[in-house]
Amino acid sequence: CVRRPTRAAASATDRQEMVSPKRRLPLRKVPGDYGLPVMGALRDRYEYFYGPGGRDGFFAARVRAHRSTVVRFNMPPGPFVARDPRVVALLDAASFPVLFDTSLVDKTDLFTGTFMPSTDLTGGYRVLSYLDPAEPNHAPLKTLLFYLLSHRRQHVITTFRDVYGDLFGLMENDLTRVGKADFGQHNDDAAFGFLCQALLGRDPAKSALGREGPKLITKWVLFQLSPLLNLGLPTLVEDLLLHSIRLPPALVKKDYDRLADFFRDAAKTVVDEGERLGIAREEAVHNILFALCFNSFGGMKILFPTLVKWLGRAGARVHGRLATEVRAAVRDNSDEVTMKALAEMPLVKSAVYEALRIEPPVAMQYGRAKHDMVVESHDYGYEVREGEMLFGYQPMATKDARVFTRPEEYLLDRFLGEDGARLLRHVVWSNGPETAAPTLHDKQCAGKDFVVLVARLLLVELFLRYDSFDIQVGNSALGSSVTVTSLKKATF
Ligand code: HEM
Repeated sequence: CVRRPTRAAASATDRQEMVSPKRRLPLRKVPGDYGLPVMGALRDRYEYFYGPGGRDGFFAARVRAHRSTVVRFNMPPGPFVARDPRVVALLDAASFPVLFDTSLVDKTDLFTGTFMPSTDLTGGYRVLSYLDPAEPNHAPLKTLLFYLLSHRRQHVITTFRDVYGDLFGLMENDLTRVGKADFGQHNDDAAFGFLCQALLGRDPAKSALGREGPKLITKWVLFQLSPLLNLGLPTLVEDLLLHSIRLPPALVKKDYDRLADFFRDAAKTVVDEGERLGIAREEAVHNILFALCFNSFGGMKILFPTLVKWLGRAGARVHGRLATEVRAAVRDNSDEVTMKALAEMPLVKSAVYEALRIEPPVAMQYGRAKHDMVVESHDYGYEVREGEMLFGYQPMATKDARVFTRPEEYLLDRFLGEDGARLLRHVVWSNGPETAAPTLHDKQCAGKDFVVLVARLLLVELFLRYDSFDIQVGNSALGSSVTVTSLKKATF
């Protein structure tokens, strides 16, 4: 929640009596500090990556120490990757949505936070994810991605069922052979194959990429995100190699060029559409590559294991309820999985929203204040100055106990019925409320509906085939590592 200040220049004494203009909340100075230049940033970086309680512990400790959900600190990477690591953090459901309002925040070059990866990693272009809606290229490029996602929509469900049907076949083979199956590894192959076949009509495995696509993409993503990742290397090595310098783009150029060659050829129809929208052909190629490999593949690489993890932990009773709903809806629709059948699966939908709430796949968002303003948490108004960097850690907004009861629990029914529908505006994984649709004027995820659709399709495929399943969970650099240890075939 946010308003322009009425008396932003007031003295400290005045400020104590001041209230925020909209809800008349008492005004409070944003607490916290940045420490000494460089040293303060290094201290915060060390605590973020290696402190007790991990990333969540880092944020929770600062909220506790300052008794405030709006607080100042430095965000990694800091020296010598980011020029200025100082942020005003928004760590509750009331203040977080300021980041969606592009009349209040500038989103230029903030997709990955306080630093932007070299454009050498994206064909020399600043791709859509880094553009502010005020930039002239934003609207045509977003229009092109809406086209990419919709022009072959009749192929999405059937292709998903084919490709993910094969995934479960391969997992069953692994279970028979060695008693376990790595979901993440199979999901990488399936996600890339599905995206290219569904959205471009081309199987990458039958191109010069062979089966190497997911490996090439994962390495390329690492070169962009390394300053933010914990790979489990010895602390000093990791901090020097990953967090203090940028990995040289030249080392991944050959891989990137192979991916670009594939998309230049496979995405011709979409590139043609881009030309009609006034987008240069090469700019379209690199934007399509980024949307499919970083946004879509990267998103599915994190979200799908997360979904399987939370469902796996939820246990056999939850599995039974989902299987009953899925099979009844498919039966009632002539044994076909269609949009109509999906609409008859409210529990599946709630299960997906609950995973997106409890563990949003992209946890951090940034925006630079366009003017002086007062940001409101639940209890206070906080003055923020023009040019300051606002940062939101989304899990603290979507697990805010003032909005969600039992916020740390995965509750299958949470989003059912009218009460559930009212909560949906607080589900904000897409950089906007789940009740809103992305437009050309905002930065809400272009793939919002597509993502919810494919997540529901994963559950449908899973529960058409199996009554229940068991998993083991570990950590990985991006999301969770999930090993399936049993798949119990459908008995009803
Ligand atoms: C933007 C999340 C899948 C395309 C975003 C943002 C988030 C997000 C948080 C806002 C980032 C920011 O500016 O701070 C996700 C997640 C996904 C996913 C979690 C999957 C699980 C997709 C897919 C596409 C896509 C499938 C396909 C085209 C985009 C684009 C933007 C964006 C183009 C920038 C929008 C703009 O500039 O207006 N996404 N995304 N994303 N996403 Fe997604």
